[in-house]
Amino acid sequence: MQRVVLKDELDWQGWRQAARQLVLAGIEPDGVRWVVGGNPHPLPEASGSFNLSRSLVELAGVAFQAREPERFGLLYSLVWRAHGGETIAPDDPDLALARRLALSVRSDAHRMRTNARFMPVQEDGTVRHVGWFAPQHFVLPANAQLIARRFPELTWSIITPDGSAHWDGTRLTFGAGLRDAQDDDTLLAWWEAHRGGILDGAAEGTSVPEAEAVDEAPRPPDRLPLGPVVTVSELEPALARAAKESWACRRCHLYEPATQPVFGEGPLGASVMFVGEQPGDQEDVIGRPFVGPAGQMMDRAMEEAGIDRRQVYVTNAVKHFKFTPRGKRRIHQTPEAPEIRACSFWLDVEKTQVRPRLLVAMGGTAARAVLGRAVSITRERGHAMTMEDGQRVFVTVHPSYLLRIPDPAGKAAAYRDFVKDLSAIRVLMQAEADGGP
Ligand code: URA
Repeated sequence: MQRVVLKDELDWQGWRQAARQLVLAGIEPDGVRWVVGGNPHPLPEASGSFNLSRSLVELAGVAFQAREPERFGLLYSLVWRAHGGETIAPDDPDLALARRLALSVRSDAHRMRTNARFMPVQEDGTVRHVGWFAPQHFVLPANAQLIARRFPELTWSIITPDGSAHWDGTRLTFGAGLRDAQDDDTLLAWWEAHRGGILDGAAEGTSVPEAEAVDEAPRPPDRLPLGPVVTVSELEPALARAAKESWACRRCHLYEPATQPVFGEGPLGASVMFVGEQPGDQEDVIGRPFVGPAGQMMDRAMEEAGIDRRQVYVTNAVKHFKFTPRGKRRIHQTPEAPEIRACSFWLDVEKTQVRPRLLVAMGGTAARAVLGRAVSITRERGHAMTMEDGQRVFVTVHPSYLLRIPDPAGKAAAYRDFVKDLSAIRVLMQAEADGGP
C-alpha cells in the first residue's frame, strides 16, 4: 500500500504532485492510502506526460476544500480513470459525488461572504474589520485570496475555528483560529488578547486551490463580491427573522445592484432609535449600519455626548445602498420618495419590534421617512416633537453632511452643533430612564 502524507487538509500542491507521480507510476487508486499530517513518505519516481482536462482540475480544486476525509482518494480515482482515457459519464457515482462536494463548498464560500459580519476595531490609527465565521468546509484560504484581491482597501481579519486570515492592504497571512465566538464581546476580548501573537506569528499561506475556482457566476463589474463577514452581533430573534426576510425584498429595484440589505442593530426595547439615510459603500459590503466614515463620525459625536451606541438602536430609512458606478467607484445617490416609501415597510417592522420612545431622524431622507413629509432640517432640528400617534421625534443633521463641509472652521462648528443635538437626546434618554415625560 502506498502511503501519501499531506501537510494539512488543504495541501493541494502536495496532493497534485502525489497524484501525478502515482498515476505515472501506475499505482491504482485502491493501492493508495491518503493521510493528513505526519512524516512525509517517499513517492515512487515516475516520469512521462500527464494531462488532464481543465474542467476536471477545476472540479478537483473546489471539491478538495470539502470537509470530507474520502475526497483525496475519490479525486485520485477520477484522475486515474481520466488519465487512462476513460470518458467519465455525467451520472458516474464518483463524478456525481465530487460534484456534490464542489457544490457544497461553493455554497459554503458564498455563505461566508454573505452571512459573516465584520466588526470595526481601532488599531494604530486605522480600523481593522474583524469577523468570525464557522465554515462547514475548508473555504477560508481561497475565500481570503478572493476577498483580498477584489477588496484591497480594507484591513481585515477573518477568524474561523480552523484558523484565521489577515489582510493589511498588501499581504495576506494566516494564523491561529478561535473555536467559538458567541458574540461581539467574546470575539473582541479574544482578539484584543491574542492579536499581537496572531499577527506576529501569521505566515503567508501556501498555495491553495485557485480563488477563482470558488467564485460563482460572473458579477456585473460594479457589484462587489464580498458580503458581510460574521454574524457576531446576534439580533433578537424577531428582528433576525425580519432581517433575513429582507434579503428577498423586491419592494423597489434597489436590491439589484446592492450587495445585500443592511438591517438595523441594537437591543430590543432600546429607548432611542437613530435613523440614517441608507447604507453607504462600506456598510453595503460589511452588512452593518454606520460602520464607514459617517458611522465613525457619529460614534465620535455620540461618545462626546455621552451616548453609548450599544444601548441605542441604529438603522436606516432605506436598507439597500443606492449608487451609480463610476469606474471602480460607487457613487452614493440619494434615495427618491418612492424608494423611501417602499422601504418604510422594514422601518415599521423595526419600530414595532423595538418600540423606541424617541426616534432620531438624521438628515432629510430619515426625516421624510419618519415624519412622512419633506422637512427643513435647519428649521426643525434640535428639539423633540410629538407626532399624531404620540411618537416623539427628534430631527438633526446626518453625520455625512459634516464630512462634506470643506472649510475646517465650518466643519468644527457643525460638529459642535451635532454634539449639542446628541447631548439634548442624551438628556431626553435620561429623563426617560428616570420616568420623565
Ligand atoms: N450613511 C447612512 O445613512 N447610513 C449608514 O449606515 C452609513 C452611512
